[in-house]
Amino acid sequence: MRRKIAAGNWKMNGTSAALSELDTLAQSHTHSDCTIVICPPAPLLFRACEITVATPVSIGAQDCHGEVKGAFTGDISAEMVADTGATHVIVGHSERRDAYNERNRDVRNKAEAARAAGLCAILCIGESLEDREASNTLDIIAGQLSGSVPEDITADTLVIAYEPIWAIGTGKVPTLEQIVQVHDFIRTQLCTRFGAETGASISLLYGGSVKASNAAEIFKAENVDGALVGGASLKAEDFSPIITALNAS
Ligand code: 13P
Repeated sequence: MRRKIAAGNWKMNGTSAALSELDTLAQSHTHSDCTIVICPPAPLLFRACEITVATPVSIGAQDCHGEVKGAFTGDISAEMVADTGATHVIVGHSERRDAYNERNRDVRNKAEAARAAGLCAILCIGESLEDREASNTLDIIAGQLSGSVPEDITADTLVIAYEPIWAIGTGKVPTLEQIVQVHDFIRTQLCTRFGAETGASISLLYGGSVKASNAAEIFKAENVDGALVGGASLKAEDFSPIITALNAS
């Protein structure tokens, strides 16, 4: 049985006032069959972990550096993330691949650093609209998987999030067939590279304009084990029904 995961990426949104959303979320889900992860901005990590301790809500960071420590002004290491009490970290989000020129090997280093620090990496991949329109989606996905997924993976240390860039924050969602095609492809690639048992154990999340109104439909797909949600994770009242839909799937 693969872990189902409802993950929220707050991106660069929220100050300490937003922490009350975590309280509301934890109170609304005193029990959850799926793993709930919220990734707030780094300055909120410590307090977010304090608020959600002994609740079903786990906390993750939105990025970490690939090195253990050193002269990297403004960056945070995986060990620092773990030290806050967080259990997860997003790596390779398309916004960072784009704005900070992160390449597959940088993302792989980050995923390896996360594992070494005892964190579970939520590793993001996804094609641009240009790639999609040129029918290059599966080639891009294959390249991102081979370049950014480390050699040594387990279900506890790696989750993959498929986030088509053109679906992020746009309200445009791929058809279920398109989601199924890519998720099935990712599963096959993982099984080929890591063996059937490991390949089948890794949770695959879909991300890009997931909302309460479309979540149940997306969760019908066999190889969709949850979602990585941006805008609709900021408010507990928007994220809660997505968690409920995943628990019911
Ligand atoms: P939206 O849900 O706002 O489209 O963002 C998706 C995303 O980028 C999550 O990492």
